[in-house]
Amino acid sequence: MINLEPFKALLLDNCGFTFSNGREETLSSSIAKRAAICKASTLSNYYKLLISDSNELAKLIELLAINETYFFREPEQLRLMTNRLIPEIIEAKSLSVGKFDSSVKIKIVSAGCSTGEEPYSIAIALHEKYGVESQNLFSVVGVDIDGAAIESAVKGVYGRYSFRGMDSSIINRYFEPVRDSTGLFQIKDFIKNQIFFQTANLNAENYPALIFSPDIIFYRNVSIYFPDKVQTSIFSRLANILNFGGYLIVSSTETMHHNTGILPLVEIDELFVYKKSILNSNSRIVAISSKPSKQIYKTSLKRATILKQTTSKIESLSASHQIAPKELFDIALEHTHKNRQKEAILILKTLIEKEPNFINAHLLLANILTDSQNFKKAESHCNIALNYNQFCTPAYLMLGIIAHQTGRNDEGLKRLREALYIDANCWVAHFYLAESVNLLGDKKRAISAYHSALDILQNGADSKNKSSIFPLRFNSEQFKALCQYKLNILQKGSVN
Ligand SMILES: C[S@@+](CC[C@H](N)C(=O)[O-])C[C@H]1O[C@@H](n2cnc3c(N)ncnc32)[C@H](O)[C@@H]1O
Repeated sequence: MINLEPFKALLLDNCGFTFSNGREETLSSSIAKRAAICKASTLSNYYKLLISDSNELAKLIELLAINETYFFREPEQLRLMTNRLIPEIIEAKSLSVGKFDSSVKIKIVSAGCSTGEEPYSIAIALHEKYGVESQNLFSVVGVDIDGAAIESAVKGVYGRYSFRGMDSSIINRYFEPVRDSTGLFQIKDFIKNQIFFQTANLNAENYPALIFSPDIIFYRNVSIYFPDKVQTSIFSRLANILNFGGYLIVSSTETMHHNTGILPLVEIDELFVYKKSILNSNSRIVAISSKPSKQIYKTSLKRATILKQTTSKIESLSASHQIAPKELFDIALEHTHKNRQKEAILILKTLIEKEPNFINAHLLLANILTDSQNFKKAESHCNIALNYNQFCTPAYLMLGIIAHQTGRNDEGLKRLREALYIDANCWVAHFYLAESVNLLGDKKRAISAYHSALDILQNGADSKNKSSIFPLRFNSEQFKALCQYKLNILQKGSVN
Protein backbone atom coordinates (compact mmCIF):
# COMPACT_ATOMS: atom_id res chain seq x y z
CA MET A 1 0.00 0.00 0.00
CA ILE A 2 1.51 3.34 -1.09
CA ASN A 3 1.75 6.13 1.50
CA LEU A 4 0.09 8.84 -0.55
CA GLU A 5 0.31 11.64 2.03
CA PRO A 6 3.61 13.27 0.91
CA PHE A 7 2.45 13.14 -2.74
CA LYS A 8 -0.93 14.63 -1.80
CA ALA A 9 0.76 17.45 0.14
CA LEU A 10 3.08 18.22 -2.77
CA LEU A 11 0.26 18.31 -5.32
CA LEU A 12 -1.98 20.42 -3.08
CA ASP A 13 0.79 22.92 -2.52
CA ASN A 14 1.82 23.06 -6.18
CA CYS A 15 -1.38 23.02 -8.21
CA GLY A 16 -4.20 22.93 -5.66
CA PHE A 17 -5.33 19.37 -6.47
CA THR A 18 -7.00 17.34 -3.73
CA PHE A 19 -7.73 13.62 -3.85
CA SER A 20 -10.73 12.37 -1.96
CA ASN A 21 -11.54 8.67 -1.64
CA GLY A 22 -12.67 8.08 -5.22
CA ARG A 23 -9.61 9.75 -6.76
CA GLU A 24 -6.96 8.15 -4.58
CA GLU A 25 -6.82 5.16 -6.88
CA THR A 26 -6.05 7.38 -9.87
CA LEU A 27 -3.33 9.05 -7.81
CA SER A 28 -1.65 5.81 -6.78
CA SER A 29 -1.82 4.25 -10.26
CA SER A 30 -0.43 7.45 -11.85
CA ILE A 31 2.44 7.54 -9.34
CA ALA A 32 3.21 3.85 -9.99
CA LYS A 33 3.11 4.42 -13.77
CA ARG A 34 5.46 7.43 -13.72
CA ALA A 35 7.81 5.78 -11.16
CA ALA A 36 8.15 2.77 -13.52
CA ILE A 37 8.82 4.99 -16.56
CA CYS A 38 11.47 6.91 -14.59
CA LYS A 39 12.96 3.62 -13.36
CA ALA A 40 12.72 4.84 -9.75
CA SER A 41 13.62 1.83 -7.58
CA THR A 42 11.39 2.93 -4.66
CA LEU A 43 8.49 5.34 -4.25
CA SER A 44 10.56 7.41 -1.90
CA ASN A 45 13.14 7.79 -4.73
CA TYR A 46 10.34 8.80 -7.07
CA TYR A 47 9.13 11.39 -4.53
CA LYS A 48 12.69 12.80 -4.34
CA LEU A 49 12.72 13.01 -8.13
CA LEU A 50 9.37 14.81 -8.12
CA ILE A 51 10.49 17.51 -5.72
CA SER A 52 13.75 18.11 -7.56
CA ASP A 53 12.53 17.96 -11.17
CA SER A 54 9.68 20.25 -12.24
CA ASN A 55 9.43 18.45 -15.62
CA GLU A 56 8.61 15.20 -13.86
CA LEU A 57 6.05 16.94 -11.65
CA ALA A 58 4.47 18.34 -14.84
CA LYS A 59 4.30 14.81 -16.31
CA LEU A 60 2.52 13.49 -13.21
CA ILE A 61 0.10 16.45 -13.29
CA GLU A 62 -0.72 15.61 -16.93
CA LEU A 63 -1.92 12.17 -15.77
CA LEU A 64 -3.98 13.64 -12.95
CA ALA A 65 -5.65 16.60 -14.67
CA ILE A 66 -9.31 16.15 -15.55
CA ASN A 67 -9.63 17.52 -19.05
CA GLU A 68 -13.31 16.89 -19.79
CA THR A 69 -14.50 19.62 -22.18
CA TYR A 70 -16.37 20.17 -25.43
CA PHE A 71 -17.26 22.91 -27.88
CA PHE A 72 -20.00 25.41 -26.99
CA ARG A 73 -20.37 24.22 -23.40
CA GLU A 74 -23.06 26.36 -21.71
CA PRO A 75 -23.77 28.26 -24.94
CA GLU A 76 -25.96 30.82 -23.13
CA GLN A 77 -22.79 32.16 -21.42
CA LEU A 78 -21.14 32.59 -24.83
CA ARG A 79 -24.25 34.42 -26.10
CA LEU A 80 -24.15 36.65 -23.02
CA MET A 81 -20.53 37.48 -23.85
CA THR A 82 -21.18 38.38 -27.49
CA ASN A 83 -24.55 40.12 -27.07
CA ARG A 84 -24.23 41.94 -23.76
CA LEU A 85 -20.74 41.97 -22.24
CA ILE A 86 -18.69 42.84 -25.33
CA PRO A 87 -20.95 45.76 -26.40
CA GLU A 88 -20.80 47.09 -22.82
CA ILE A 89 -17.00 46.80 -22.72
CA ILE A 90 -16.64 48.52 -26.10
CA GLU A 91 -18.92 51.33 -24.93
CA ALA A 92 -17.07 51.77 -21.64
CA LYS A 93 -13.69 51.86 -23.44
CA SER A 94 -15.04 54.38 -25.98
CA LEU A 95 -16.40 56.62 -23.21
CA SER A 96 -13.13 56.74 -21.31
CA VAL A 97 -11.05 57.94 -24.28
CA GLY A 98 -13.72 59.58 -26.43
CA LYS A 99 -13.52 56.84 -29.06
CA PHE A 100 -12.88 53.11 -29.15
CA ASP A 101 -9.15 52.54 -29.62
CA SER A 102 -9.10 49.43 -31.79
CA SER A 103 -5.29 49.13 -31.55
CA VAL A 104 -5.81 47.76 -28.05
CA LYS A 105 -7.71 44.55 -28.48
CA ILE A 106 -10.35 43.29 -26.09
CA LYS A 107 -8.73 40.36 -24.34
CA ILE A 108 -10.60 37.22 -23.34
CA VAL A 109 -8.83 34.57 -21.27
CA SER A 110 -9.86 30.95 -20.93
CA ALA A 111 -8.24 29.97 -17.61
CA GLY A 112 -8.04 26.18 -17.49
CA CYS A 113 -8.71 25.79 -21.21
CA SER A 114 -7.89 22.07 -21.36
CA THR A 115 -7.53 20.91 -25.01
CA GLY A 116 -8.78 24.20 -26.46
CA GLU A 117 -12.48 23.66 -27.10
CA GLU A 118 -13.43 26.59 -24.84
CA PRO A 119 -11.14 29.29 -26.33
CA TYR A 120 -11.94 28.12 -29.88
CA SER A 121 -15.68 28.31 -29.06
CA ILE A 122 -15.15 31.87 -27.76
CA ALA A 123 -13.35 32.90 -30.97
CA ILE A 124 -16.00 31.22 -33.15
CA ALA A 125 -18.87 32.88 -31.23
CA LEU A 126 -17.16 36.27 -31.66
CA HIS A 127 -16.64 35.63 -35.37
CA GLU A 128 -20.30 34.63 -35.77
CA LYS A 129 -21.37 37.94 -34.24
CA TYR A 130 -18.69 40.40 -35.37
CA GLY A 131 -17.50 38.82 -38.64
CA VAL A 132 -13.98 39.31 -40.00
CA GLU A 133 -13.57 42.43 -37.86
CA SER A 134 -13.39 40.14 -34.82
CA GLN A 135 -9.76 39.35 -35.68
CA ASN A 136 -8.85 43.02 -35.16
CA LEU A 137 -11.09 43.54 -32.17
CA PHE A 138 -10.34 40.56 -29.97
CA SER A 139 -7.49 38.44 -28.74
CA VAL A 140 -8.24 35.13 -27.07
CA VAL A 141 -5.80 33.44 -24.70
CA GLY A 142 -5.96 29.89 -23.36
CA VAL A 143 -3.86 28.65 -20.42
CA ASP A 144 -3.78 25.34 -18.62
CA ILE A 145 -1.45 23.55 -16.22
CA ASP A 146 -1.53 20.44 -18.38
CA GLY A 147 1.23 20.78 -21.00
CA ALA A 148 -0.08 17.84 -23.08
CA ALA A 149 -3.56 19.44 -23.21
CA ILE A 150 -2.00 22.72 -24.39
CA GLU A 151 -0.03 20.86 -27.11
CA SER A 152 -3.25 19.30 -28.29
CA ALA A 153 -5.03 22.72 -28.22
CA VAL A 154 -2.29 24.21 -30.38
CA LYS A 155 -2.75 21.38 -32.94
CA GLY A 156 -6.50 22.07 -32.99
CA VAL A 157 -7.56 18.62 -34.21
CA TYR A 158 -10.79 17.23 -32.76
CA GLY A 159 -12.94 14.11 -32.94
CA ARG A 160 -16.72 13.90 -32.99
CA TYR A 161 -16.87 13.64 -29.18
CA SER A 162 -15.70 17.25 -28.84
CA PHE A 163 -18.52 18.42 -31.10
CA ARG A 164 -21.39 16.85 -29.13
CA GLY A 165 -24.47 19.00 -29.49
CA MET A 166 -22.76 21.46 -31.84
CA ASP A 167 -24.53 22.77 -34.93
CA SER A 168 -23.07 21.01 -38.00
CA SER A 169 -23.16 24.24 -40.03
CA ILE A 170 -20.62 25.70 -37.57
CA ILE A 171 -18.39 22.64 -38.03
CA ASN A 172 -18.47 23.22 -41.78
CA ARG A 173 -17.65 26.91 -41.49
CA TYR A 174 -14.83 26.68 -38.98
CA PHE A 175 -13.26 23.23 -39.41
CA GLU A 176 -11.92 21.10 -42.23
CA PRO A 177 -11.72 17.30 -42.26
CA VAL A 178 -8.22 15.96 -41.58
CA ARG A 179 -7.01 14.09 -44.66
CA ASP A 180 -6.68 10.30 -44.37
CA SER A 181 -8.48 10.16 -41.06
CA THR A 182 -11.97 9.23 -40.07
CA GLY A 183 -13.99 11.71 -38.11
CA LEU A 184 -11.17 14.12 -37.28
CA PHE A 185 -11.51 17.85 -37.95
CA GLN A 186 -8.90 20.63 -37.87
CA ILE A 187 -9.77 24.20 -36.82
CA LYS A 188 -9.26 26.66 -39.71
CA ASP A 189 -6.26 28.98 -39.56
CA PHE A 190 -8.16 32.28 -39.41
CA ILE A 191 -9.58 31.24 -36.01
CA LYS A 192 -6.46 29.43 -34.85
CA ASN A 193 -4.31 32.52 -35.48
CA GLN A 194 -6.46 34.58 -33.16
CA ILE A 195 -5.66 32.43 -30.14
CA PHE A 196 -2.53 32.28 -27.97
CA PHE A 197 -1.94 29.22 -25.81
CA GLN A 198 0.45 28.80 -22.92
CA THR A 199 1.05 26.36 -20.09
CA ALA A 200 0.41 28.10 -16.76
CA ASN A 201 -0.38 27.15 -13.19
CA LEU A 202 -3.25 29.24 -11.83
CA ASN A 203 -2.13 28.33 -8.30
CA ALA A 204 1.34 29.84 -8.85
CA GLU A 205 2.41 33.05 -7.16
CA ASN A 206 3.13 34.80 -10.48
CA TYR A 207 1.10 34.62 -13.65
CA PRO A 208 2.48 34.89 -17.20
CA ALA A 209 2.19 38.33 -18.81
CA LEU A 210 0.08 36.81 -21.58
CA ILE A 211 -2.93 36.70 -19.26
CA PHE A 212 -2.54 40.14 -17.67
CA SER A 213 -5.30 42.73 -18.08
CA PRO A 214 -8.09 40.69 -19.64
CA ASP A 215 -11.58 42.12 -20.12
CA ILE A 216 -13.29 38.77 -19.68
CA ILE A 217 -12.07 35.61 -17.98
CA PHE A 218 -13.76 32.26 -18.46
CA TYR A 219 -12.82 30.14 -15.44
CA ARG A 220 -15.24 27.28 -15.84
CA ASN A 221 -15.14 23.77 -14.39
CA VAL A 222 -11.58 24.18 -13.13
CA SER A 223 -11.96 24.70 -9.39
CA ILE A 224 -13.99 21.58 -8.66
CA TYR A 225 -11.16 19.71 -6.90
CA PHE A 226 -9.66 22.75 -5.19
CA PRO A 227 -10.13 23.16 -1.43
CA ASP A 228 -11.78 26.42 -0.30
CA LYS A 229 -8.48 28.14 0.46
CA VAL A 230 -7.07 27.45 -3.03
CA GLN A 231 -10.38 28.45 -4.64
CA THR A 232 -10.34 31.79 -2.83
CA SER A 233 -6.74 32.56 -3.62
CA ILE A 234 -7.03 31.70 -7.34
CA PHE A 235 -10.29 33.65 -7.64
CA SER A 236 -8.61 36.67 -5.95
CA ARG A 237 -5.64 36.54 -8.31
CA LEU A 238 -7.89 36.31 -11.35
CA ALA A 239 -9.95 39.22 -9.98
CA ASN A 240 -6.72 41.20 -9.58
CA ILE A 241 -5.51 40.77 -13.14
CA LEU A 242 -8.97 41.51 -14.58
CA ASN A 243 -9.45 45.00 -16.06
CA PHE A 244 -11.91 47.30 -14.33
CA GLY A 245 -15.29 46.89 -15.94
CA GLY A 246 -14.33 43.31 -16.81
CA TYR A 247 -16.19 40.07 -16.13
CA LEU A 248 -15.20 36.76 -14.59
CA ILE A 249 -17.41 33.86 -15.68
CA VAL A 250 -17.56 30.52 -13.89
CA SER A 251 -19.83 27.63 -14.83
CA SER A 252 -23.43 27.95 -13.63
CA THR A 253 -23.02 25.12 -11.11
CA GLU A 254 -20.00 26.81 -9.51
CA THR A 255 -21.38 30.34 -9.41
CA MET A 256 -22.74 30.51 -5.86
CA HIS A 257 -19.73 28.73 -4.47
CA HIS A 258 -17.50 31.62 -5.56
CA ASN A 259 -19.81 34.25 -4.06
CA THR A 260 -17.43 35.08 -1.23
CA GLY A 261 -17.35 38.85 -1.62
CA ILE A 262 -14.15 39.13 -3.69
CA LEU A 263 -16.10 40.42 -6.70
CA PRO A 264 -19.77 41.39 -6.79
CA LEU A 265 -22.06 38.90 -8.45
CA VAL A 266 -24.33 40.50 -11.03
CA GLU A 267 -27.33 39.20 -12.89
CA ILE A 268 -27.67 39.92 -16.59
CA ASP A 269 -30.39 38.32 -18.69
CA GLU A 270 -31.03 35.80 -15.91
CA LEU A 271 -27.40 34.64 -15.89
CA PHE A 272 -24.95 35.30 -13.08
CA VAL A 273 -21.43 36.58 -13.63
CA TYR A 274 -18.82 38.37 -11.52
CA LYS A 275 -17.96 41.94 -12.38
CA LYS A 276 -14.94 44.02 -11.38
CA SER A 277 -16.76 47.30 -10.98
CA ILE A 278 -20.14 48.40 -9.90
CA LEU A 279 -20.15 51.35 -12.25
CA ASN A 280 -22.01 51.87 -15.55
CA SER A 281 -23.66 48.52 -15.22
CA ASN A 282 -27.15 47.80 -16.42
CA SER A 283 -27.10 44.71 -14.32
CA ARG A 284 -28.52 43.99 -10.91
CA ILE A 285 -26.10 43.35 -8.06
CA VAL A 286 -26.85 40.20 -6.12
CA ALA A 287 -25.79 40.31 -2.50
CA ILE A 288 -25.77 36.62 -1.67
CA SER A 289 -27.66 33.64 -2.90
CA SER A 290 -31.08 33.39 -1.29
CA LYS A 291 -30.55 29.65 -1.09
CA PRO A 292 -26.92 29.26 -0.01
CA SER A 293 -25.29 26.04 -1.03
CA LYS A 294 -24.29 23.62 1.75
CA GLN A 295 -20.67 24.60 1.24
CA ILE A 296 -21.33 28.34 1.56
CA TYR A 297 -23.38 27.63 4.67
CA LYS A 298 -20.58 25.58 6.21
CA THR A 299 -17.97 28.22 5.40
CA SER A 300 -20.04 31.08 6.79
CA LEU A 301 -20.72 29.11 9.96
CA LYS A 302 -17.00 28.50 10.44
CA ARG A 303 -16.16 32.15 9.79
CA ALA A 304 -18.93 33.33 12.12
CA THR A 305 -17.51 31.17 14.92
CA ILE A 306 -13.97 32.49 14.43
CA LEU A 307 -15.35 36.00 14.26
CA LYS A 308 -17.33 35.60 17.48
CA GLN A 309 -14.34 34.23 19.36
CA THR A 310 -11.95 36.84 18.01
CA THR A 311 -14.11 39.87 18.61
CA SER A 312 -15.29 38.94 22.08
CA LYS A 313 -11.70 38.19 23.07
CA ILE A 314 -10.44 41.40 21.50
CA GLU A 315 -13.20 43.49 23.07
CA SER A 316 -12.52 42.19 26.57
CA LEU A 317 -8.73 42.55 26.20
CA SER A 318 -9.14 46.03 24.80
CA ALA A 319 -11.59 47.11 27.51
CA SER A 320 -9.23 45.93 30.25
CA HIS A 321 -6.32 47.76 28.51
CA GLN A 322 -4.42 44.47 28.22
CA ILE A 323 -3.80 44.96 24.53
CA ALA A 324 -1.97 47.95 23.08
CA PRO A 325 -3.37 49.80 20.03
CA LYS A 326 -0.31 48.77 17.98
CA GLU A 327 -0.99 45.11 18.81
CA LEU A 328 -4.64 45.47 17.83
CA PHE A 329 -3.54 46.99 14.55
CA ASP A 330 -1.11 44.13 13.87
CA ILE A 331 -3.86 41.56 14.52
CA ALA A 332 -6.16 43.41 12.10
CA LEU A 333 -3.38 43.53 9.51
CA GLU A 334 -2.80 39.79 9.90
CA HIS A 335 -6.51 39.08 9.43
CA THR A 336 -6.47 41.21 6.29
CA HIS A 337 -3.49 39.34 4.87
CA LYS A 338 -5.34 36.09 5.56
CA ASN A 339 -8.38 37.37 3.71
CA ARG A 340 -10.50 37.61 6.87
CA GLN A 341 -11.81 41.10 6.18
CA LYS A 342 -14.83 40.96 8.49
CA GLU A 343 -12.65 40.20 11.50
CA ALA A 344 -10.20 42.93 10.50
CA ILE A 345 -12.98 45.52 10.15
CA LEU A 346 -14.38 44.78 13.61
CA ILE A 347 -10.97 45.02 15.22
CA LEU A 348 -10.15 48.25 13.38
CA LYS A 349 -13.46 49.77 14.50
CA THR A 350 -12.70 48.83 18.13
CA LEU A 351 -9.24 50.34 17.71
CA ILE A 352 -10.53 53.58 16.18
CA GLU A 353 -13.10 53.95 18.96
CA LYS A 354 -10.32 53.61 21.51
CA GLU A 355 -7.75 55.69 19.62
CA PRO A 356 -9.44 57.91 16.97
CA ASN A 357 -6.11 59.41 15.81
CA PHE A 358 -4.54 56.03 14.94
CA ILE A 359 -4.02 56.99 11.28
CA ASN A 360 -2.93 53.58 9.99
CA ALA A 361 -6.16 52.04 11.32
CA HIS A 362 -8.16 54.49 9.16
CA LEU A 363 -5.95 53.71 6.17
CA LEU A 364 -6.17 49.95 6.53
CA LEU A 365 -9.93 50.20 6.96
CA ALA A 366 -10.11 52.40 3.86
CA ASN A 367 -8.10 49.79 1.96
CA ILE A 368 -10.43 46.94 2.99
CA LEU A 369 -13.53 49.01 2.22
CA THR A 370 -12.13 49.89 -1.23
CA ASP A 371 -11.53 46.22 -1.93
CA SER A 372 -15.18 45.49 -1.20
CA GLN A 373 -16.18 48.47 -3.38
CA ASN A 374 -17.48 50.45 -0.40
CA PHE A 375 -15.89 53.56 -1.85
CA LYS A 376 -17.77 56.28 0.07
CA LYS A 377 -16.89 54.93 3.51
CA ALA A 378 -13.32 54.29 2.34
CA GLU A 379 -13.00 57.92 1.24
CA SER A 380 -14.32 59.17 4.54
CA HIS A 381 -11.62 57.24 6.45
CA CYS A 382 -8.93 58.66 4.14
CA ASN A 383 -10.22 62.15 4.84
CA ILE A 384 -10.13 61.51 8.60
CA ALA A 385 -6.50 60.39 8.19
CA LEU A 386 -5.76 63.64 6.32
CA ASN A 387 -7.37 65.68 9.09
CA TYR A 388 -4.83 64.24 11.49
CA ASN A 389 -1.91 64.54 9.07
CA GLN A 390 -2.19 66.65 5.93
CA PHE A 391 1.01 65.08 4.55
CA CYS A 392 -0.26 61.52 4.73
CA THR A 393 0.86 60.05 1.38
CA PRO A 394 -1.11 56.78 1.66
CA ALA A 395 -4.36 58.73 2.19
CA TYR A 396 -3.84 60.72 -1.03
CA LEU A 397 -2.82 57.52 -2.78
CA MET A 398 -5.94 55.68 -1.62
CA LEU A 399 -8.18 58.61 -2.62
CA GLY A 400 -6.48 58.62 -6.03
CA ILE A 401 -7.01 54.89 -6.50
CA ILE A 402 -10.68 55.16 -5.47
CA ALA A 403 -11.26 58.06 -7.87
CA HIS A 404 -9.53 56.07 -10.63
CA GLN A 405 -11.66 52.99 -9.90
CA THR A 406 -14.87 54.99 -9.89
CA GLY A 407 -14.15 56.69 -13.21
CA ARG A 408 -13.35 60.17 -11.75
CA ASN A 409 -10.11 60.41 -13.66
CA ASP A 410 -9.38 64.12 -13.16
CA GLU A 411 -9.81 63.90 -9.41
CA GLY A 412 -7.77 60.68 -9.40
CA LEU A 413 -4.90 62.41 -11.19
CA LYS A 414 -4.99 65.31 -8.74
CA ARG A 415 -4.85 63.01 -5.71
CA LEU A 416 -2.07 60.84 -7.15
CA ARG A 417 -0.01 63.94 -7.93
CA GLU A 418 -0.53 65.12 -4.34
CA ALA A 419 0.78 61.74 -3.13
CA LEU A 420 3.84 62.08 -5.38
CA TYR A 421 4.41 65.67 -4.28
CA ILE A 422 4.89 64.42 -0.72
CA ASP A 423 6.71 61.21 -1.64
CA ALA A 424 8.21 61.06 -5.13
CA ASN A 425 9.21 57.43 -4.50
CA CYS A 426 5.67 56.17 -4.11
CA TRP A 427 5.66 53.65 -6.97
CA VAL A 428 2.00 52.71 -6.45
CA ALA A 429 1.08 56.35 -7.18
CA HIS A 430 3.26 56.33 -10.33
CA PHE A 431 1.59 53.08 -11.40
CA TYR A 432 -1.99 54.35 -10.97
CA LEU A 433 -1.05 57.70 -12.52
CA ALA A 434 0.13 55.73 -15.56
CA GLU A 435 -3.13 53.75 -15.61
CA SER A 436 -5.20 56.97 -15.45
CA VAL A 437 -3.35 58.90 -18.16
CA ASN A 438 -3.30 55.77 -20.31
CA LEU A 439 -7.09 55.58 -20.02
CA LEU A 440 -7.25 59.22 -21.09
CA GLY A 441 -5.23 58.30 -24.20
CA ASP A 442 -2.03 60.12 -23.17
CA LYS A 443 0.45 57.38 -24.12
CA LYS A 444 3.57 59.54 -23.67
CA ARG A 445 2.83 60.39 -20.04
CA ALA A 446 1.69 56.82 -19.38
CA ILE A 447 5.03 55.47 -20.64
CA SER A 448 6.94 57.90 -18.46
CA ALA A 449 4.87 57.05 -15.35
CA TYR A 450 5.15 53.27 -15.88
CA HIS A 451 8.93 53.76 -16.25
CA SER A 452 9.06 55.71 -12.97
CA ALA A 453 7.15 52.96 -11.12
CA LEU A 454 9.38 50.29 -12.64
CA ASP A 455 12.61 52.15 -11.80
CA ILE A 456 11.58 52.59 -8.17
CA LEU A 457 10.55 48.93 -7.91
CA GLN A 458 13.79 47.77 -9.51
CA ASN A 459 15.81 49.85 -7.05
CA GLY A 460 14.17 47.95 -4.23
CA ALA A 461 12.31 50.96 -2.82
CA ASP A 462 9.34 48.67 -2.22
CA SER A 463 10.53 47.61 1.22
CA LYS A 464 10.87 51.21 2.36
CA ASN A 465 7.57 52.38 0.93
CA LYS A 466 5.18 53.94 3.38
CA SER A 467 2.26 52.53 1.44
CA SER A 468 3.29 48.99 2.36
CA ILE A 469 0.59 48.96 5.05
CA PHE A 470 -1.76 48.43 2.15
CA PRO A 471 -2.05 44.68 1.81
CA LEU A 472 -2.04 44.88 -1.97
CA ARG A 473 -2.77 41.53 -3.50
CA PHE A 474 -0.10 41.96 -6.16
CA ASN A 475 3.40 41.43 -4.96
CA SER A 476 6.09 43.77 -6.25
CA GLU A 477 7.32 41.12 -8.74
CA GLN A 478 3.86 41.08 -10.32
CA PHE A 479 3.73 44.88 -10.43
CA LYS A 480 7.14 44.93 -12.15
CA ALA A 481 5.91 42.43 -14.73
CA LEU A 482 2.70 44.41 -15.17
CA CYS A 483 4.60 47.68 -15.76
CA GLN A 484 6.87 45.93 -18.25
CA TYR A 485 3.88 44.43 -20.01
CA LYS A 486 2.04 47.78 -20.25
CA LEU A 487 5.23 49.44 -21.54
CA ASN A 488 5.59 46.79 -24.24
CA ILE A 489 2.02 47.38 -25.38
CA LEU A 490 2.36 51.16 -25.38
CA GLN A 491 5.72 51.12 -27.13
CA LYS A 492 4.55 48.66 -29.79
CA GLY A 493 1.09 50.21 -29.97
CA SER A 494 -0.60 46.83 -30.04
CA VAL A 495 -1.57 44.03 -27.70
CA ASN A 496 -1.63 40.29 -28.13
C1 LIG B 1 -12.64 20.09 -16.71
S1 LIG B 1 -11.46 21.03 -17.58
C2 LIG B 1 -12.43 22.45 -18.02
C3 LIG B 1 -12.16 22.94 -19.41
C4 LIG B 1 -12.99 24.15 -19.82
N1 LIG B 1 -12.72 25.28 -19.00
C5 LIG B 1 -14.46 23.81 -19.81
O1 LIG B 1 -15.19 24.35 -18.99
O2 LIG B 1 -14.89 23.03 -20.65
C6 LIG B 1 -10.44 21.62 -16.24
C7 LIG B 1 -9.06 22.07 -16.66
O3 LIG B 1 -8.50 22.84 -15.62
C8 LIG B 1 -7.11 22.60 -15.61
N2 LIG B 1 -6.52 22.96 -14.31
C9 LIG B 1 -6.71 22.36 -13.11
N3 LIG B 1 -5.94 22.93 -12.18
C10 LIG B 1 -5.25 23.92 -12.79
C11 LIG B 1 -4.29 24.86 -12.33
N4 LIG B 1 -3.84 24.88 -11.07
N5 LIG B 1 -3.79 25.74 -13.24
C12 LIG B 1 -4.20 25.72 -14.54
N6 LIG B 1 -5.10 24.84 -15.01
C13 LIG B 1 -5.62 23.95 -14.15
C14 LIG B 1 -7.01 21.10 -15.90
O4 LIG B 1 -5.74 20.74 -16.39
C15 LIG B 1 -8.13 20.90 -16.92
O5 LIG B 1 -7.64 20.93 -18.23
